[in-house]
Amino acid sequence: MINVAIDGPAGAGKSTIARKAAHDLGYIYVDTGAMFRAMALYMVRNGIDPEDSEAVAKRADRAEIDITYIDGVQCVMLDGENVNGLIRTDEISDAASRVAVVPEVRKKMLSLQREIARKHDVIMDGRDIGSAVLPDADLKIYLTASVDVRADRRYRENIEKGMQADLEDIKREIRERDERDMTRAEAPLVKVEDAVEVDSSDMTVAEVVDKIESLIKSI
Ligand code: DC
Repeated sequence: MINVAIDGPAGAGKSTIARKAAHDLGYIYVDTGAMFRAMALYMVRNGIDPEDSEAVAKRADRAEIDITYIDGVQCVMLDGENVNGLIRTDEISDAASRVAVVPEVRKKMLSLQREIARKHDVIMDGRDIGSAVLPDADLKIYLTASVDVRADRRYRENIEKGMQADLEDIKREIRERDERDMTRAEAPLVKVEDAVEVDSSDMTVAEVVDKIESLIKSI
């Protein structure tokens, strides 16, 4: 099986790029952030404060999280329900980053992710894929962009969706999430030595997809 790892900070465009490249090349795309988001949704639904690491650790094992593919689209299942439509809110983004610091949560996600990669050619995106989940991946990419560019992209997306958006708030949230994801004790976001860094700040989506596809083809 061919395993490609794409890591990077929030809003760098990992999921857009990975989804497109996987589709073009016939790989399965695995969005690991969605799994942490489903775990966050589980905690919120059950009245557990995502900041209460002890309570999150105790309940993590009870959340049944799975990934299935319907017409090539990844569906994240939480206790048998497709929760794709419920996990992209700002509240869940924040909560996901908080539950992701809890070792019991990470342990559960890691085994699920490895199991998928063992069975399929995958492009898997996240924060710790190259460093922890798939240390022997055939190709590791670190996809990044400046905070300003990432905030601007998120701002435009929100406006397009008809949502309220404030650029300064988005910037602050991105900085906070970066800080938490990069400094946590367990599997923080790092650029591993053998990763190829791609900075998408001044690139179009098509250019980044081209670049990543050519890296994959050269494996
Ligand atoms: O990629 P995303 O924004 O959907 O991820 C949501 C949160 O989940 C992110 O802030 C940190 C966490 N996460 C993680 O810790 N490890 C991963 N492999 C993917 C996501």
